[in-house]
Amino acid sequence: MTEIRAFEPTDAAAASFMVMAAFHAAVAPHYPQGGVDAFTAYADALPLARRPRAGHRTWVVHEDGEILGLVELRLPAHVAMLFVAPAAQRRGLGRRLLDHAAAFVASQEPRPDEITVHASPNAVAFYERSGFIASGPEREKDGVRFTPMRGPLQAFENRR
Ligand SMILES: CC(C)(COP(=O)(O)OP(=O)(O)OC[C@H]1O[C@@H](n2cnc3c(N)ncnc32)[C@H](O)[C@@H]1OP(=O)(O)O)[C@@H](O)C(=O)NCCC(=O)NCCS
Repeated sequence: MTEIRAFEPTDAAAASFMVMAAFHAAVAPHYPQGGVDAFTAYADALPLARRPRAGHRTWVVHEDGEILGLVELRLPAHVAMLFVAPAAQRRGLGRRLLDHAAAFVASQEPRPDEITVHASPNAVAFYERSGFIASGPEREKDGVRFTPMRGPLQAFENRR
């Protein structure tokens, strides 16, 4: 059975490995080398383990202890990372992680109106299916290509 729980520092190595496998399969082909390098540094186990103490909240979805996905929220309401292991994609896990993060966002005081993300080119359709809309054209910063998107929290509440 798959279950979502808070990320623990001891998850860092396995979570970073899973994130990099999904990144290389789906995202890296869209980035120049500078963007691949920047993301590789961001997703390394050590910074991943430290960010929950530095303004981030992270959850993992696991099955029998194996980490199958991760969502990292930069407080109060920005999805910094959302990754599902390649073999576990299209089973609803990405949506579940996103809904979990959105429920946390909605529980904060003051309550944000929306959740935001910088969607990589391959993930725009997933976010659109999940209630997000583009808030501007695609951009590139330090080799990282993304479309800024926002999702009204109402869209997540309607799904619950
Ligand atoms: C993007 C990602 C997190 C989606 O996770 P997932 O578990 O495969 O997605 P889900 O199974 O929860 O899909 C939810 C919905 O989005 C749709 N969807 C998922 N991936 C899609 C895609 N690439 N194109 C179009 N629709 C997609 C699903 O069909 C489903 O539709 P529904 O509303 O009809 O049920 C996952 O593909 C991934 O890790 N990709 C690589 C990393 C990445 O790009 N992360 C985002 C960085 S911003």
